[in-house]
Amino acid sequence: MSQTWWRGAAIYQVYLRSFADGNGDGVGDLAGLRSRLQYLKDLGIDAIWLNPWYPSPMADGGYDVADYRDIEPVFGTLAEAERFIEEAHDLGIRVIIDVVPNHSSTESAWFKEALADPAARDRFWFSDEPLNDWQSIFGGPAWTQVPDGQWYLHLFAPEQPDFNWGNPEVHQEFEDVLRFWLDRGVDGVRIDSAALLIKSDTGYEDLDEVHDVYRRWREVADEYGERILIGEVWLPDQERFARYLRPDELHTAFNFDFLSCPWNPAELRRVIDLTLATHTPIGAPPTWVLSNHDVTRPVTRYGREDTAFEHGGRLHGTPSDLELGYRRARAAALLAMALPGSVYVYQGEELGLPEVEDLPDELRQDPMYARSGGTNPGRDGCRIPLPWSGDEPPFGFGTGSGTGTPWLPQPESWRKLTAEAQRTDLGSMLNLYRDALRLRRDLLGDGALTWLPLGDEVLAFTRDSGLTCVTNLSPDPVPLPAGRLLLASGPLEDGTLPTDTTAWLTRD
Ligand code: GLC
Repeated sequence: MSQTWWRGAAIYQVYLRSFADGNGDGVGDLAGLRSRLQYLKDLGIDAIWLNPWYPSPMADGGYDVADYRDIEPVFGTLAEAERFIEEAHDLGIRVIIDVVPNHSSTESAWFKEALADPAARDRFWFSDEPLNDWQSIFGGPAWTQVPDGQWYLHLFAPEQPDFNWGNPEVHQEFEDVLRFWLDRGVDGVRIDSAALLIKSDTGYEDLDEVHDVYRRWREVADEYGERILIGEVWLPDQERFARYLRPDELHTAFNFDFLSCPWNPAELRRVIDLTLATHTPIGAPPTWVLSNHDVTRPVTRYGREDTAFEHGGRLHGTPSDLELGYRRARAAALLAMALPGSVYVYQGEELGLPEVEDLPDELRQDPMYARSGGTNPGRDGCRIPLPWSGDEPPFGFGTGSGTGTPWLPQPESWRKLTAEAQRTDLGSMLNLYRDALRLRRDLLGDGALTWLPLGDEVLAFTRDSGLTCVTNLSPDPVPLPAGRLLLASGPLEDGTLPTDTTAWLTRD
């Protein structure tokens, strides 16, 4: 088993706007994050991945970057970011930031220059007329006209003009940006929309030249020692996906097949086997992801009749049995954490937060909502500010002097889900995550697994360390294999493992 930290890391995703608000203006910030670092240390994570923290008009939650070398003033300052990196490192927590190379912001210096001077447009995709009929991923056409009559390409919102990666200046710029942050001590970057950079007449998804970009980035990262590149690569074809993880490209990529997989034993096993078969031959560690800032929270998803995730918001508002979803989310968390490779925890997952599906439409901020003409509710429901303490909103989210009304409202019912309420409750989701992450550090991480034949509806495997993980997806309780029980996602019934429950056992 490799000792390289990232191969088996537990990585906590911080959506800064909604994590903790240190100055009481209703928006999460670096001061808030720094004040909660001990919470993350106690949770037992190895690294933090932060969504974009750069100056941004926030047309897409910060994925519209106006300046790649600074910090959004609402979040803090560059000096504060540097202090945060140091403080995290002092606690043994690594820091991963988000880099957005596919597109910029209409407020970036380069785009403003391009608007002012038609001779300075080659860093983007400008044309006298739309070159194709591509639709933006958020809905509506992917081309927008500027006042002098030309059009520019944006795969996402019109405020996010796509870079032209055929221009060497763009390559140079991103290498410089990587160095800028690596010089400041960040341990890795998560690469946004990593497969979309290169465009051709026929399309933009996963074109071969994109690999040249990452080979070069890998050389840059390697100059700094152990710094990692993580790809956001949504591709249905596992062979194509694996190409991003070749030894001279990215270190890891998010496992969206696992994230999207329904709560079904055959499907889960198929996805786990496929993931291992894809990663093992190239020596890349798999990742296990249940949630992030773009998808429905697992508690809500697993409580629905259709437990798969798919983009487009089709299932939004369909009935969800949240008690069932919560139980399954606990079982899924232990399953994910026992699998070989690294695991991601999206903020609030450790509190068992459900998706907020009843936000009033006028409060929705995600461009997906407006761009889809309201047919897709967007992703605000998984981005609600965290509940930390107390009995009523804002649940300790804001700690500064302002009035602290959070930028999206929190449900009253979250009083039971605050970190404070869960800390002293031994059966809480928070304590399940804490216990599991602690055990995982000693007994799990990277390596191999061996399936145990406990029936088609029971996922059971052992790891080299001797840990056995059993998840019961059958309708009836099942006997547990021999071993000492270390942890279970719910109470056992006379020594048997109930439906939708996971147990960890050890040989000794
Ligand atoms: C990625 C991000 C998402 C963003 C999009 C455009 O998918 O995760 O939040 O909207 O890229 O940057």
